[in-house]
Amino acid sequence: MDESWVNPPDSAVPSAESGHVTGTDLHLELSGEGSLRSRLMHALREAVRSGRLAPGTRLPPYRSLAQDLGIARNTVADAYAELVEEGWLSARQGSGTRVARRAAPLDVGRARHPQRPTRRRILHDLRPSSPDAAAFPRAAWLTSTRRAVAAAPNDAFGVGDPRGRAELREALAEYLARARGVRTGPDRIVICSGFAHALRLLGRLVKGPVAVESYGLDFHRSLLEETGPRTVPLTVDACGARVGELPGTGAGTVLLTPAHQFPTGGPLHPERRSAVVDWARARGGLLVEDDYDGEFRYDRQPVGAVQGLDPDRVAYIGSASKSLSPALRLGWMVLPGWLVDDVLAAKGPREMWSGVIDQLALADFIACGAYDRHLRRMRQHYRRRRDLLVSTLAERAPHIQVSGISAGLHAVLELPGNTEEAALRAARRQGLALDGLRPYRHPDSAMPPRDGLVIGYGTPPDHAFTAALDALCLALPDPPRDGD
Ligand SMILES: Cc1ncc(COP(=O)(O)O)c(C=O)c1O
Repeated sequence: MDESWVNPPDSAVPSAESGHVTGTDLHLELSGEGSLRSRLMHALREAVRSGRLAPGTRLPPYRSLAQDLGIARNTVADAYAELVEEGWLSARQGSGTRVARRAAPLDVGRARHPQRPTRRRILHDLRPSSPDAAAFPRAAWLTSTRRAVAAAPNDAFGVGDPRGRAELREALAEYLARARGVRTGPDRIVICSGFAHALRLLGRLVKGPVAVESYGLDFHRSLLEETGPRTVPLTVDACGARVGELPGTGAGTVLLTPAHQFPTGGPLHPERRSAVVDWARARGGLLVEDDYDGEFRYDRQPVGAVQGLDPDRVAYIGSASKSLSPALRLGWMVLPGWLVDDVLAAKGPREMWSGVIDQLALADFIACGAYDRHLRRMRQHYRRRRDLLVSTLAERAPHIQVSGISAGLHAVLELPGNTEEAALRAARRQGLALDGLRPYRHPDSAMPPRDGLVIGYGTPPDHAFTAALDALCLALPDPPRDGD
């Protein structure tokens, strides 16, 4: 291969500053065979190889080159990104895409091995798994920990009770009744190390299949199936899961996200909330209520827990993973009385999962009002982010529909059919970690697969959020053109 492009003789190369090629005016012939992207890549390589494009030359922005050539903006973005990976071009935030500088040793290495796979750096994480870790209330948590440890009786530092500390169960009983409409006393609460732990415990007790939402966390489905039960899908529509399908599934247990369907968004319709409780009563069944982000609702009051409709037919599960941090590994199960002993037996004779010091700290944090204050602050914080996401998309990608925005820390961007994979590839090239909608679909679901992106807007730190949205906009498919 001719490697002269890496280190062309100075005399043969018009400098970037010389004006031979400006950053906005570039003549390229997309001749030959193959996709538009590979023809564009070939033409750009030739322009660099021949010296027509000098090292350091700034290339036209995607949009203007796309317009000049009459092709899609994403085709240009993809071609640039691949040429960056191959070492022909370089991209730096704020200075656009340029022809790679000849002296850069990394470029020399890549030129000798142009096909060598390169590790892609994640610049922005927009997966829906985490809250804003930078917003963890460190000072208030330290205050609560200090106070709780100082006040704890000696027996707190011995072997733990598998129910969890009484201080935490009491604080939760008061908080959940007040803020989430849960009906319980401390005796029906069992502390666990998050929702996943609760599901593992319940999965071992369930007989027969468990009905789940057609779209949901694949991790939770596998976790249930590992513990025993098969999962069967319920259709999900704009009103949440179609619980009317339950009698046909043979399931005696159903797992739902009623306050905010994960991942499609939206609360379970009030009629369906009553219907699922009626079904559980008639069937002697159980609703496992995943209230993972119920506190975060922006347009009106948070939707209360279904558990309040019938505490004997609902196992309500909450978690600190979205409200505080997934690193805490703290959750709480509010159980029907008839299930408490079985869950405790499944958990084992002593606490082996949740650290007592964190339990005591959370009890203090709730009791002194810091939890409420933190949630109120975070609600405003995430609401601002959601608004910025929605307004940025309205301005820069108005053809993309956003849904599931009234609550939680994520939204769904609906994509045209069969474009999810390409959008994920484009996102990776922009340094974005993103989830598509398809992996969330239950493999046995009768629902046709939907293409979409699940955008977690909680995770990036504040200073990087706008840049993350910029990168996202570049990864989205272009609007359909006339005749498409
Ligand atoms: C749908 C759903 N349920 C539950 C949880 C909480 O899981 P855990 O408490 O195991 O971290 C999450 C993530 O935070 C989630 O996305």
